[in-house]
Amino acid sequence: MLNGKVVLISGASSGIGALTAALLAKRGAVPVLTGRNEARLAKQAAAIGRNCSYYVMDVTDMRQVEAVVRKVIQQYGRIDILLNNAGYGQFETFADMPVEQFEAMMDTNYMGIVRCTKAVLPYMLKQGGGHIVNVASMAGKIGSAKSTSYTATKHAVLGFTNSLRMELRGQGIRVSAINPGPIDTEFFAIADPTGSYAKNVGWFMMKPEYVANAIVRVMERKKSELDLPHAASLGIKLYGLFPRVADRLFGGLFNRK
Ligand code: NAI
Repeated sequence: MLNGKVVLISGASSGIGALTAALLAKRGAVPVLTGRNEARLAKQAAAIGRNCSYYVMDVTDMRQVEAVVRKVIQQYGRIDILLNNAGYGQFETFADMPVEQFEAMMDTNYMGIVRCTKAVLPYMLKQGGGHIVNVASMAGKIGSAKSTSYTATKHAVLGFTNSLRMELRGQGIRVSAINPGPIDTEFFAIADPTGSYAKNVGWFMMKPEYVANAIVRVMERKKSELDLPHAASLGIKLYGLFPRVADRLFGGLFNRK
C-alpha cells in the first residue's frame, strides 16, 4: 500500500522521524529525510540503504523549504505523503521563559508545519492526491504546568490540522494528526535537561519504535487522528467532556515537569 510512495519527512535526523523513515523504506516506500544536521541525515540515510534520499532543510527557513520541495519534485516527480515531524519542547514556567523562546518554539513547531504544507500542497493538488500527517502531541489536547509554550504550539498544530482537513475535503488530500504522550527520544535532552520529568514519567514513556509503527499505520489507513498510547485516548476524551473532574483525577500525573 505504501510501496513506491514518496514521503517527505521533516526532523528526520533523529527520534521518531528517523525511525519512521526506516520503517517506510522496509515497506517499499521512498523516504526523503530532511533536517538541519547533514552528517546525521547522511548517517540515517546510509543505514536505510538505497531507495531514500536526504536534504538539509530547516523548517524555519521558507526559502530553504521551497527549494528542497522543488528538488524533491525534480527528483521523484511527486510527493505522496508529508510527515510534519520537526519540533522541540522546553519545559519551563511561564514566569521564567523569555518571550523570544515562545516565539522561536512557535516558529518551529507550528510555523514549520505551515511552511512545509504551503510548499508541498500545490503539488499534491496538481497530482490529485496526497496525505499530510502532522505530529502534534497529547500536549495539543491537555495543558500542564511548565508547558505554556509547548502546549500552545501543539494546540496550534491541532487547530491547523483540523481546519485544513475540512478545507481539503473532497479534493483527495487527507490530513491527519498524531498525538503521542511521552516518548523515549532525544526530545528530552532539550525539553528536560535535568532529567526530572523523564524520571517521573519513565514508567509510561513509549518506545519510539512503537510510535513510528503507529505513524506508518496512520499512513496506511489514512486515519484522521491518533492518540498514543491508546489508553490515553480515553483520558483525553474525558478531559474534553469533564475538564474540571479530569484535572482533579489526572492533574497530578501531567504536572510532573
Ligand atoms: P527528536 O528531538 O529526536 O526529533 C525532533 C527532530 O526535529 C530533531 O531531529 C530536531 O533536530 C528536529 N528539528 C527541530 N527544529 C528543527 C528545525 N527548525 N528544522 C528542522 N528540524 C528541526 O524528538 P522526537 O521525540 O522524535 O520528536 C519528534 C516530534 O514528536 C516533535 O514534533 C515532538 O514535539 C513530538 N512529540 C514528542 C514527544 C516526546 O515525548 N518525545 C511527545 C509528543 C510529541
